[in-house]
Amino acid sequence: METKFWQVSENSPDQKIITQAAEIIQGGGLVAFPTETVYGLGADGLNSQAVGKIFVAKGRPNDNPLILHVADQEDVFGLARRVDERAKKLMKLFWPGPLTLILPKEKKIPDVVTAGLDTVAIRMPSHPVALALIKKSGVPIAAPSANRSGYPSPTTGQHVYEDLKGRIEAILESGPTGVGVESTIVDLSGELPVILRPGGITRENLTQVLGTVMVDPGLSDPHQKPKAPGMKYTHYSPRAEVILLDGATENVAAKIRELVENYPCRGKKIGLLLTAETWERLASVQVAYHSNLGSGTCLEDIAKVLYRELRNCDVAGVDVIFTETYRAEGIGAALMNRLLKSAGYKVINT
Ligand code: TXA
Ligand code: MG
Repeated sequence: METKFWQVSENSPDQKIITQAAEIIQGGGLVAFPTETVYGLGADGLNSQAVGKIFVAKGRPNDNPLILHVADQEDVFGLARRVDERAKKLMKLFWPGPLTLILPKEKKIPDVVTAGLDTVAIRMPSHPVALALIKKSGVPIAAPSANRSGYPSPTTGQHVYEDLKGRIEAILESGPTGVGVESTIVDLSGELPVILRPGGITRENLTQVLGTVMVDPGLSDPHQKPKAPGMKYTHYSPRAEVILLDGATENVAAKIRELVENYPCRGKKIGLLLTAETWERLASVQVAYHSNLGSGTCLEDIAKVLYRELRNCDVAGVDVIFTETYRAEGIGAALMNRLLKSAGYKVINT
């Protein structure tokens, strides 16, 4: 199949293109589209056959449920069996935006969307192209991140094209996404709210509204099974091996210099993904790929470029990536969650 690549303006998407994309969704096909977090791969969320194609295109295990994307808060009431006060508060404050709610599901949602669970994940994205596509399609759009399963999520239409060309009908491209990491997932199906995946809306944001908010212990302990089925798989992983370094900037820089100079498997191509502060100390080191992710004082900026830079290491043919840990606060919690997974929990303390 030939994959159409449609460039659309973020703030005033061409209605003719949105209409053609919506017709593909209504016809049971797949369209990748930008959201404020990462690009999603959309299908009609009420059409099991169409949703089934998402799993094939991505190579996604079918026990991994999908998020339904809506364009209007009211749409949640037709998809969730119970929308309690906590959910209403969060929707009012954080929607549209990078927050996914896990709620008890309505019967009409196909099992393939929820992987047979009794709950459903729902979010209202804020990206104008996503909202236009959902509205025009007239259905909730089921969409995982638009990458090949296991690979870092796409933050540009070009990334989607590299992963899925020939496997999906169309891509709506409107430049790099804003947040750069996937939405926060909060489970409201039980008594206490639980964060199943950290993201753009922070634990601190949620605590202010809900009081106590738990974090799924499976996120930090590789021996416990995470509650979001998708979080158990290898994820966010470039082809290169990722090694994380923890400690004060001086020590991390010194350790990286030592590793680059004496790396046990000589002849391996090394990539460095560093904060501006560490990068400055290592500007003269010779490696295959070198990237300054931005200041460690603004983790939002680092989140925006992290996936792009992991992918760039692969393009440069890098074998081993050395990168840094962050304080797991604010969006730092999302960065650390993704980095620990992509590193298979390997951390060198300096
Ligand atoms: O920012 C995002 O959330 C992006 C954009 C495209 O919206 N989407 C995204 O989807 O990251 P995906 O499929 O890559 O990740 C969805 C995660 C998976 O880990 C999945 O297991 C979990 O949500 N999930 C979905 N439904 C669930 C449910 N009912 N209970 C627990 N976890 C669920
Ligand atoms: Mg994903």
